Amino acid sequence: MTEKTAALKKDFEMQILAAKNTADLESIRVGFLGKKGFVTTLMQGLNDIPKDKKREAGQAINTLKQFIEEAIENKKEELAKLEWQKKIDSSESYDESLFCSSEKGSYHPITLIQREVEKVFETMGFVIENYSEIVDDYQCFESLNIPKHHPARDMQDTYYLSTGQLLKTHTSAAQNAIMKKYGAPLRAIFPGRCFRNENIDACHENTFFQMEGIMIDEDISISNLIYFMKTLLSEVFGKNMDVRLRPGFFPFVEPGFELDIKCLICDGEGCPSCKDSGWLELCPCGMIHPKVLEYGGIDTEKYTGFAFGLGLTRLAMMRYGVKDIRIFNSGNLKAFSQFEG
Ligand code: PHE
Repeated sequence: MTEKTAALKKDFEMQILAAKNTADLESIRVGFLGKKGFVTTLMQGLNDIPKDKKREAGQAINTLKQFIEEAIENKKEELAKLEWQKKIDSSESYDESLFCSSEKGSYHPITLIQREVEKVFETMGFVIENYSEIVDDYQCFESLNIPKHHPARDMQDTYYLSTGQLLKTHTSAAQNAIMKKYGAPLRAIFPGRCFRNENIDACHENTFFQMEGIMIDEDISISNLIYFMKTLLSEVFGKNMDVRLRPGFFPFVEPGFELDIKCLICDGEGCPSCKDSGWLELCPCGMIHPKVLEYGGIDTEKYTGFAFGLGLTRLAMMRYGVKDIRIFNSGNLKAFSQFEG
């Protein structure tokens, strides 16, 4: 009897080694442990064995049975892992159920406002460009008429990488590349995350979002700029917005302006979000400096253009009545869940 079990064991070991999938494994299990399997048949044959050998034979069969059961379990795990890996490696690896969650998510308010603004500009024929967060000195400053040691750099201290590159301080950093990419005439918007060394409070963050826009064509003037900004703001807020233009200085525009909107949180009364002024600086803008156009390869004899740097984060605060800018980067899901997109 023990010889028989030893032979069966050998046979089993060979079969299991060759098993390629869980289906193979199941047929091996049935072949040995099933109702008519080898081991079961051996067990049933115990009755015909002389009494003095029965015990030894019974033990041998039981040991074999245990061995087979364990081996099958181990192999099952091994094969399952392999099959799983195959699934992951194959093109059908994406399985929605893997990420299933019963809770409904919501978009970040900045994403919502960005999409809204994009929609408005898209209908006015603007292309939307995505631009990297890491740029170089030329893109962020030099090409924007801000040479080294220019005092305008003081307000735009940022994170510098060991490569000499930096995290962009404003979306204007993409102007040069986009002018070179499309040439004139050109209508483009390019949203992006910006970084600055700031003293953080209710209305200042070191990481914030802007949406840059440029329009370059023949005979573009400041009235085109005012028209586009008014259209945008009334679309976003669903009403005529109170705005004011103040002169503003930026080396890459001439003339330059600050476009303010009346604070919607306090309706002009004064609150921490607007530094008690009743107005919120929303959109610095101006006519693109000829030098900047030149750097971008644009023919300045023929073309002029305007540029604006819309504060997307500010706009989101106004649109959703967020009183503290710090909430946007807080990762506070409870606060975000109220913004439905
Ligand atoms: N890039 C400027 C800033 O972030 C804003 C700006 C953009 C001003 C376009 C004028 C024109 O401060």
